[in-house]
Amino acid sequence: MTPQEKLRKCYECFKNKIDFVPEVALILGSGLGALADEIDIRAVLDYKDIDGFPQSTVLGHKGRFVFGYMDGVPVVIMQGRVHYYEGYPMQDVVLPTRLMKLMGAKVLFLTNASGSCNPEFTAGDFMLITDQIMNFVPSPLIGANFEELGTRFPDMHEIYDKDLREIVIKTAKDLDIALKQGVYIQLTGPNFETPAEVRMCRMLGGDAVGMSTACEAVAANHAGMKIVGISCVCNLGCGLTDNPLTHDEVMEASNKAAPLFKKLIRGSVVNIHNAL
Ligand code: HPA
Repeated sequence: MTPQEKLRKCYECFKNKIDFVPEVALILGSGLGALADEIDIRAVLDYKDIDGFPQSTVLGHKGRFVFGYMDGVPVVIMQGRVHYYEGYPMQDVVLPTRLMKLMGAKVLFLTNASGSCNPEFTAGDFMLITDQIMNFVPSPLIGANFEELGTRFPDMHEIYDKDLREIVIKTAKDLDIALKQGVYIQLTGPNFETPAEVRMCRMLGGDAVGMSTACEAVAANHAGMKIVGISCVCNLGCGLTDNPLTHDEVMEASNKAAPLFKKLIRGSVVNIHNAL
C-alpha cells in the first residue's frame, strides 16, 4: 500500500465511524493529555480502531482522537502523538496530521515538552514557536508528492502563522501568563542530547530542543493548514545543568506546568476561532 492509499484508508475508517467536522486540530505533548478530558466530548476514536494507523508506544501518551467542543470551538485532539523515534517511517509519523486536515481542520495547534538550549530560559517556561529547524530528521515530504494535499516544493517562510502568533501573544498577556518566543529544533531522540549537541543547537539558532512537532508542522504547512505551536520548556538542556536528565523529570515538570498551559491553550483556541 502506498502512503497515499494508507491515508485514504484511515480517512475512510474515520468517515465510517465519526460524524464531526473539527475546525482546530490539537496535538498534545507529554503531560498535557488531560486537556482532552476537559472538553465537551462528542466522540472518541482509538488509534487501534483505525486500520493502518501507527500506534503510540510512549509512556504517558494515550492513543486516541477526541472530538468535541473546547469552550464552544469544534476541535479534534490527538491524545498521544506518534514519534519518529518509535521506529515509524516519517510518512507514518505525520499521517495523523494529514488525517486531521482531511477531517476538515483548518488550524493545527502543536504543543510539546522540550529542553532549553537558550541559557535565558528556565524549566517551566512556555515558548511560542516562531520558527523551526528539522534538518536532523528526514522531511515527511520525501517520496511521491501527495498532490491532493499540496505542492511538491512548498514555501516555508512563515511556517508558524504570524496572525495566530499575535493572537497567542495577546491571549497570554490577557491571562497574565509569561510567554517566551523562540526557535524549536527537532532531533530524532529517543536519547536526550549530549552537552555538545545542546551547544550545537544553540549555535544553529535554536532556543528549545525536542523530539517532535517540526515534522508535523512541515506536513501541515504543505497541506495548507495554519499552524501555531507552543513548547513547554520542561528542563534545562543537557550541559546547562549538572543533573542527569530523566523522562520522569520531564513528565513531572510538564504535569506541574499543565494547569497554566491548558489555560493558555484554551484561551488561544477561542481567540483563534473568533479571528478565523
Ligand atoms: N531534549 C529533547 N527532548 C526533550 C527534552 C530535552 O531536553 N525535554 C523534554 N523533551
